[in-house]
Amino acid sequence: MHPEWRGRRVGERLLSHLLEQARSLGAVTATLEVRVGNVVAQNLYRRYGFLEVGRRPRYYADNEDALLLTAYLGRKTPDA
Ligand SMILES: CC(C)(COP(=O)(O)OP(=O)(O)OC[C@H]1O[C@@H](n2cnc3c(N)ncnc32)[C@H](O)[C@@H]1OP(=O)(O)O)[C@@H](O)C(=O)NCCC(=O)NCCS
Repeated sequence: MHPEWRGRRVGERLLSHLLEQARSLGAVTATLEVRVGNVVAQNLYRRYGFLEVGRRPRYYADNEDALLLTAYLGRKTPDA
């Protein structure tokens, strides 16, 4: 999110919409990487059910580790 637009829940709306789209297309889980030091983004992801499932050591160019987070999206019902 452009710095001037942060803190207005736009990122949250984008994430929410993306997860709902993915679910409606049949995705069952979503997985992402986030810097271990990026607490703001992690807080957002955890609110949407993302849980830590792994870690990639020195994943980023500056050698910071990445956390792997996965959320269960639930199954699409036949009539949904
Ligand atoms: C993570 C990110 C996408 C969240 O998007 P957003 O639209 O700012 O999300 P929100 O409006 O829900 O705000 C999230 C947090 O930012 C904080 N915040 C509020 N105003 C802010 C501002 N002006 N500038 C920065 N952060 C602010 C709030 O504390 C909020 O925390 P809360 O959920 O505890 O209230 C955005 O911060 C961003 O682009 N960060 C840099 C890039 C990045 O980290 N991308 C994700 C990589 S995995």
